[in-house]
Amino acid sequence: MDKKIKLGVIYGGRSGEHEVSLMSARSVLSVIDRDKFDVIEIGITRKGQWLVGENLWTLIQNERYETLIPAVFLPWPQNPGIYTLQDGRMKLYSALDVVFPVMHGTYSEDGTLQGLLELADVAYVGAGVLGSAACMDKGLFKDVMIANQIPTLDYLVFNRKEIEADLETCLDQAETIAPYPLFTKPANLGSSVGISKCTSRSDLMEGILQAASFDRRIVVEKGIEMAREVELAVLGNENPQASIPGEVVPKDIFYTYAEKYINDTADLLIPADVSAEMVAMLQEIAIRAYKATDCAGMARVDFLIDRETDKVYLNEINTIPGFTKISMYPKLWEATGLPYAQLIERLIDLALERKAQRDQTEREFRS
Ligand SMILES: Nc1ncnc2c1ncn2[C@@H]1O[C@H](COP(=O)(O)OP(=O)(O)O)[C@@H](O)[C@H]1O
Ligand SMILES: [Mg+2]
Repeated sequence: MDKKIKLGVIYGGRSGEHEVSLMSARSVLSVIDRDKFDVIEIGITRKGQWLVGENLWTLIQNERYETLIPAVFLPWPQNPGIYTLQDGRMKLYSALDVVFPVMHGTYSEDGTLQGLLELADVAYVGAGVLGSAACMDKGLFKDVMIANQIPTLDYLVFNRKEIEADLETCLDQAETIAPYPLFTKPANLGSSVGISKCTSRSDLMEGILQAASFDRRIVVEKGIEMAREVELAVLGNENPQASIPGEVVPKDIFYTYAEKYINDTADLLIPADVSAEMVAMLQEIAIRAYKATDCAGMARVDFLIDRETDKVYLNEINTIPGFTKISMYPKLWEATGLPYAQLIERLIDLALERKAQRDQTEREFRS
């Protein structure tokens, strides 16, 4: 029999999406074929400490870290793996062939973790450093969309220093984007944290200040009243495929944090009720956006559609979408004919393929 693949599954993490990550990871762990994979679980606390050990998921969830062992990745490409640090001694805990970071948001979906895994020379599921970072920053992401003639809502980016120095001028400039409503967003968060719908100048001021408390960079964007929210799942490396679209139907004034994770009142409609032409267009745009941002493995591509004009705008790409069995990304693939467990294996294969591709890159050029 072939040697088993050593698969690291990383979860938790130093972001507002810590719990979501734990839920996603539990689903992923429950379907991995243990005859093919040796699973090495790695948990990250809310404060960012990496831990391994027995009964890890439950202890991380309950924030009981005493019996767990501190763990680290090292930029040591000759010996890729996860190491433990105990009593001042470093020890290889397990070699790793591939890692599935089942984490969302800051320090996990933004290129930082991907950089660490690159330095450690371990394959990993999902986009690389560039794709992760490009999709994380809502401002830069929109610049890339525009450069590729992909429709996105008009916007401006402000930084905290500008806002602190002259808020009135920022408000004046923001009001030139479009009539109200305007949306204010921290450029680099997720889960709707720090996002406001603004219908007046005083709202806008509050929204900008709130967003600026969460990030150095903020985006102000034209708002759509009661936008339809249609999402596609994309899978693949050089030749990505797009799923059928699904639709999120929030009950709140927009798809807020509370709705995403607390009240759970939003409905997911699969497939979305859109015309066949619209499906083809969304798939074409989703794939073009995926390639333009150098995504790999997977991403969920989220659109906003104006109900009145039927105009489509690309809102954002999530490079590590929610992964519980009832999350949109796996649900969309299931509805497109790829069941959850097979999807996970496909993602791991794609990670290994991408690493093999990278390993062909000439790095030893000397003049
Ligand atoms: N320009 C907009 N017009 C209308 N609704 C918006 C707009 N931007 C965001 N929203 C609403 O806010 C939610 C969160 O915004 P989004 O840009 O997707 O950030 P996040 O990364 O936090 O998911 C969206 O799902 C949508 O409900
Ligand atoms: Mg979103």
